[in-house]
Amino acid sequence: MKIQFLGHSAFYVEGEGVKALIDPFLDQDIQQEFKVEELNYIFLTHGHGDHLGSTVTLAKASGATVVANHEICLYLSSFGVNCHPMHIGGRTTFPFGKVKMTPALHGSGIETDEGVINGGNPGGFVIEIAGKKLYHAGDTGLTYDMKLLQIEEIDVALLPIGGNFTMDVEDALRAVDFIKPKVAIPMHYNTFPVIEASPTTFTQGIEKALGKVLAPGESFSF
Ligand code: NI
Ligand code: MN
Repeated sequence: MKIQFLGHSAFYVEGEGVKALIDPFLDQDIQQEFKVEELNYIFLTHGHGDHLGSTVTLAKASGATVVANHEICLYLSSFGVNCHPMHIGGRTTFPFGKVKMTPALHGSGIETDEGVINGGNPGGFVIEIAGKKLYHAGDTGLTYDMKLLQIEEIDVALLPIGGNFTMDVEDALRAVDFIKPKVAIPMHYNTFPVIEASPTTFTQGIEKALGKVLAPGESFSF
């Protein structure tokens, strides 16, 4: 599996049979390693604008299936977007592998011109491709439920560290201890002043996993 960090919480994921984006709030200055027309899935953790990003445009341009919670799928289907609804705790098999939706402690309201729409419960994803497991936490506070992810034997965990809306560095380090991934990669920091955080303080604080900071545009294979 290969991932490319696209800034904030956005990642490109490539594996056997899958070319996917997670939370495509995209920075146009980044040299993207994907072609929009080749995308076949978009994973969306929750309805906030800095995650929903350009989901609708990308899904329509590519024909990609959006994987999100039921409420977000109801919203997206009104734009004619293909959507596969899931919900917290559910695991399902796609042609490329298995996906489980995990809990997140956060909100998920969708901002529209007509007001805020209920975006259901926020979540995260465990994405399994060819025996490798990627965990994208979405936006979340530290939760004791993360201990259950230890059972999943996560290879790479993508964790928010920016504080204010999500875990800060200290709590993200506790999350690494709960989850016990092989590799932990920070996200959701330094995009806005209110989520300023030091990714190296995070990676240097990790005791029993490899901490890896990805610069925007950088890739990592595992
Ligand atoms: Ni959010
Ligand atoms: Mn966010």
